[in-house]
Amino acid sequence: MRHLLSVCDMDDVVALLDLADDYKAGEIPGKVLEGKTLAMIFEKSSTRTRVSFEVGASQLGAQPLYLSASDLQLGRGEPIADTARTLSRYVDGIMIRAIRHSDVVELASESSVPVINGLTDLEHPCQALADMQTVREKLGDFSGRLVFVGDGNNVCNSLLLITAMLGMDMDVACPPGYEPDTEITGMAEKIARKSGSEIRVLHDPREAVDGADVVYTDVWVSMGYEEETEERLKVFRPYQVNSELMKLASPDAIFMHCLPAVRGQETTSEVIDGPQSVVWDQAENRLHAQKAIMHWLMG
Ligand code: CP
Ligand code: NVA
Repeated sequence: MRHLLSVCDMDDVVALLDLADDYKAGEIPGKVLEGKTLAMIFEKSSTRTRVSFEVGASQLGAQPLYLSASDLQLGRGEPIADTARTLSRYVDGIMIRAIRHSDVVELASESSVPVINGLTDLEHPCQALADMQTVREKLGDFSGRLVFVGDGNNVCNSLLLITAMLGMDMDVACPPGYEPDTEITGMAEKIARKSGSEIRVLHDPREAVDGADVVYTDVWVSMGYEEETEERLKVFRPYQVNSELMKLASPDAIFMHCLPAVRGQETTSEVIDGPQSVVWDQAENRLHAQKAIMHWLMG
């Protein structure tokens, strides 16, 4: 039995990408999860993760169960470990979007069914897999360089790990104090040394984006950080991915964003709604990538 708590839990990223492509192409017949149930716990809002898991699970023959944390006894203080032990007796897999990564680790340690991380403060592995499916679809391979501009948060952390595993170069351009997690960066650097890719964490977005093949950004105010909005809007201002910054990237560069986006903050309408943007394919690929993940863990 396996869990997907971190990108590092994917033993074979390429095999998962191939499976996701097969699902996208409609090449996997049959319902591999017939008769199974997936519990989906949400401590935070979601559009893409919720709907793609729910639709994906039913397309695989499983019954998805949406559970808002505030409606569960969890929201009234029932321990996460007891929630894990209870749900394990009913369902065949648990997907959770949690505030704290440590809660997901604890849930998994007490669960006898696979646990899938649907975003924590530390990582967003399902997003990273769909993103790499999109990169391969658009660029053909991982020989290019991905530049993440903005907050070195969960999405950035998972991208550092998955690009390193696939041998793709990645740069991060973030304000001082908003660097990706140091432990994750260290792990990614170790993986990159083996796979032959390079990682740089910079503070100048123009230096980073120069010649980039993929320019990726995320919101300046992630869920749970709303109290810091005023400070963040000031600090991140020079990191907006606009047409001027995109001009420094390769002429064939693609623009990516995990969504939801705030036009006028981390990017502009000209970029996200423009010809280089692949954000809707990226959102679609969440469905195919998650079907691959559920197939792998629960099939
Ligand atoms: N990208 C992503 O996870 O979107 P949601 O918050 O809508 O699930
Ligand atoms: N970094 C964002 C990603 C949302 C999918 C957040 O945590 O809110």
